[in-house]
Amino acid sequence: VPGPTSLDMARAFRSVRRDPLSFLVEVSQRYGDLVAFPVPGPPALLVNDPDDVRHVLQTAARNWGKKTVQYGALSRVTGQGLLASAEPGWIEHRRVAAPAFHHQRLEAVSDQVRAAADEAFSAGLGALSPGSGRVVDVASLTHRVGLDAVGRALFSADLSGHAQQLLDATSDAAELVVRLGRSILPTAEWAPTPTNVRLRLTRRRLDAITSDLIAERRAAGRPTAGSVHGDDLLGLLLDSGMADAEVRDELVTMVIAGHETVAGALTWTLMLLAEHPAAQDRLRSELSGLDRPVSLLDPRDRIPWTRAVIDEALRLYPPAWAISRRSLGPDVIGGVEVPAGTLAIISPWLVHRRAESWPDPASFRPERFLDPAAARSGYLPFGQGPRLCIGRDFAIGEMAVVLDRLLVDHRVGLPQGWSRPEAQAQVAVHPRGGMPLLVTRLAGT
Ligand code: HEM
Repeated sequence: VPGPTSLDMARAFRSVRRDPLSFLVEVSQRYGDLVAFPVPGPPALLVNDPDDVRHVLQTAARNWGKKTVQYGALSRVTGQGLLASAEPGWIEHRRVAAPAFHHQRLEAVSDQVRAAADEAFSAGLGALSPGSGRVVDVASLTHRVGLDAVGRALFSADLSGHAQQLLDATSDAAELVVRLGRSILPTAEWAPTPTNVRLRLTRRRLDAITSDLIAERRAAGRPTAGSVHGDDLLGLLLDSGMADAEVRDELVTMVIAGHETVAGALTWTLMLLAEHPAAQDRLRSELSGLDRPVSLLDPRDRIPWTRAVIDEALRLYPPAWAISRRSLGPDVIGGVEVPAGTLAIISPWLVHRRAESWPDPASFRPERFLDPAAARSGYLPFGQGPRLCIGRDFAIGEMAVVLDRLLVDHRVGLPQGWSRPEAQAQVAVHPRGGMPLLVTRLAGT
């Protein structure tokens, strides 16, 4: 299998650490759809071909587990929560959590997500008079919405008292996880390195907040079933008989997996809409024409253009830019025999940019998603197979609700002297230095 040599890797060391996305693009352009990295021991492969990707994540999923550096680093913060868990017991936790994401439930919490969006926008935009506008960092706005939506919809909790602490702690955790994932030499967890010490402190901060949430819920008793707060995720976890430590791992997982990703996705979507005013106008006219507010289920078929914009933004800027697996036994990928212990790295960022699957891959063209016959192979912003994102419909619905709340009355545009921020691969893909956009309140609203 072709791939860079150890010398190539040593030369690229700094750029890999600074900008792994560009490095991956370069490597796949040079070596093709199956690339081997020079590592001691079992091979490490970059897998780009959609059929091979499906093989690893779906068809042969039983042979490809999550014991990888990426998920090992994440589990230092989230423990054996659903996302990082490499244990077979993961399926039990998934069964417990699943009803919190059922469609009926999503419909029920739509008001909560709407309220989260309205509050974040009124706090973040202030009182704009019709026709006036200001430059706002939409990345920080969408982070607040994302966190608040998770709190209200999944935990029935107002996280605003904890918001700043949680945002700080999760962003510190994300940075540390990325740092661990990229370190060349694995260090023992107990070693008093600066990263380990900061990680322990960050975990303690997250523990304190989630323990508060659990204690508050226990003191308040279970919300009535059938009410908006009945059967929320926190209730399901506590009723399942899981130990508090396991509930805590799932809460931290949902906070990290559920707000960083949606915030990133919304930020890039708003940028793309600011760059493409005609697409933005079409979205606004679709949303303004509705006879009732957008719900989390609407993107399924009621708002096709908005859904297409979301799908296309997730194609170009998939927040989960890397997914990794390790083989439990030997296998064959792309016609090549690989031994047990092989690492497969799958990057939606690369797969979504293959010209073979996506004509004119670099262009923002939502209409490609309007055609139901459009090939969906080679599209995996939410992963594939048994470990598919549990929050997929929630996330797409939340994005539609937030776009509705902002864009029916406001326009996003590019500020003077605009240049596109660089995409920075953290736990999710974020714009380096934020995303300043000009938000203008529409006249007559
Ligand atoms: C899994 C992406 C939103 C919770 C995943 C995976 C991807 C992904 C790619 C699969 C990882 C793998 O196979 O290794 C995204 C994106 C989102 C998003 C792009 C937003 C645009 C959410 C939300 C939640 C969530 C809103 C919860 C509130 C999870 C969990 C898993 C997961 C718990 C692990 C599922 C399992 O293994 O059973 N996500 N996600 N995600 N996601 Fe999401």
